[in-house]
Amino acid sequence: MLTLSEVERKALIDLANEARRRAYAPYSNYAVGAALRTRTGRIFTGCNVESAAYPTGMCAERVAVFKAVSEGEKEFEVIAVVTGNGGSPCGACRQVLAEFGLDTVVLIGDAEGNCLHESTVGGLLPNAFTPKDLKK
Ligand code: THU
Repeated sequence: MLTLSEVERKALIDLANEARRRAYAPYSNYAVGAALRTRTGRIFTGCNVESAAYPTGMCAERVAVFKAVSEGEKEFEVIAVVTGNGGSPCGACRQVLAEFGLDTVVLIGDAEGNCLHESTVGGLLPNAFTPKDLKK
């Protein structure tokens, strides 16, 4: 597993909290922020964006992943995810992260900037279905 310093962890969690403040969550009132660092050192942030047509909203983690991929970045090192109560990424976000690698480190943080939990995508999604499963 990639080894992160305390300073790196805190910096990513702080960026995720900044993104969390931009969350558009008028229906759930559950704001989520994410900060995704790529192998090249770029950081893409995301927040959840809800919609009056409920299922069309999007989670913070996937916003960050889709921003990165749409800018040409597909190799991820670490994603920090911040909620008000230390919530963990949903199953759909775990699956989308798994698409790009099971070794991506996942930091779970809170609104006070604490890192509550550190894991990997593979740890959060054991026996993941990945692109290699589609090969004959
Ligand atoms: N949400 C995320 O942004 N990420 C997750 O991993 C879990 C849930 C959002 C979706 C919705 O806007 C709100 O949190 C409540 O489910």
